[in-house]
Amino acid sequence: MKKSDVVHVLFRSGLDKMPPRETGEAFAPTNIALCKYWGKRDAELNLPMTSSLSISLDQKGATTKLSLLHDKPHDVITLNGKEVALDKPFAKRITAYLDLFRPQKNWHLQVDTTLTIPVSAGLASSASGFASLALALNDLFDWNCSKRNLSILARLGSGSATRSLWHGFVEWNAGVQPDGMDSYGEPLTVEWPEFCIGILMVSDREKKVSSREAMQRTMDSSMLYGNWPKKVATDLVILKQSLKVRNFSLLGGVAESNALAMHATMLSSWPPICYFLPETVQAMHKVWEVRGKGLELYFTQDAGPNLKLMFLEKDIGKVKVHFPLMEVIKPFVLSS
Ligand code: PMV
Repeated sequence: MKKSDVVHVLFRSGLDKMPPRETGEAFAPTNIALCKYWGKRDAELNLPMTSSLSISLDQKGATTKLSLLHDKPHDVITLNGKEVALDKPFAKRITAYLDLFRPQKNWHLQVDTTLTIPVSAGLASSASGFASLALALNDLFDWNCSKRNLSILARLGSGSATRSLWHGFVEWNAGVQPDGMDSYGEPLTVEWPEFCIGILMVSDREKKVSSREAMQRTMDSSMLYGNWPKKVATDLVILKQSLKVRNFSLLGGVAESNALAMHATMLSSWPPICYFLPETVQAMHKVWEVRGKGLELYFTQDAGPNLKLMFLEKDIGKVKVHFPLMEVIKPFVLSS
């Protein structure tokens, strides 16, 4: 099944409708997975092997503004105010995504994306990027799509975008259907105002191996990957239980162990995939050292060298002593 087939299932007919307005705009937060999505059962539709669970960072993400172009034979893509050449991977992914929705072949858009996070540095910029693009298209075309369907549409752009439609903790159900109509995000009704994330930038350089390529290589060559779905199944149960009873140590430990297990599958791939830089490992050791002395501090890491620390509000001061450069995000506290 192709992406365009899914779009046709969602819209039946009606995709040839011209937008009723000239512009569309939306913001979507980035999200950090506590139980990771790693590996696809369908690479075309970004259908995952397993479910996953994340926390959205409302203050960090992407705003996408769409404007109709009446006099250009191609799309115009800008990122943080700079035009991106159409042969660059970033622009190619966006124009291919827009192809799914063009009412006419020679219909083009200007897509202006502004990110408050570095691109492709393992901070889920594609998650917020594609979620905000799906929302902005919904605004432009006045589709009135449900969040569930927008989550499915966002997934066609990037897997982790499935979870970026909501605030707070979100679970992405893997689903079993070949067309992926049962593979979407769902918010969990847990507010945890004391829960903090600390972004520890080690490098903001673009990663050399994309998560798409890394997932495929892991599935093809890692002898540990067979155990990954079992690890996820157990971790998801414990994470949801820890959220219910607000057990931070349990949650932090499982999230850290889940991230390390994901990286272990990558390290055991061939050629090996290693997103750790020396500074990443150094920071990990520091976390373990201070945790050994009683501070409730945990980390998670995605497909990049940066760490996201997890701690409670009461410990911000203590964590800052050890990591003065980290940026603190309170996912449940609205920024002023
Ligand atoms: O959606 P992608 O292709 O950017 O993959 C994201 C994968 C991880 O960030 C490593 C894990 C996750 O669940 O977000």
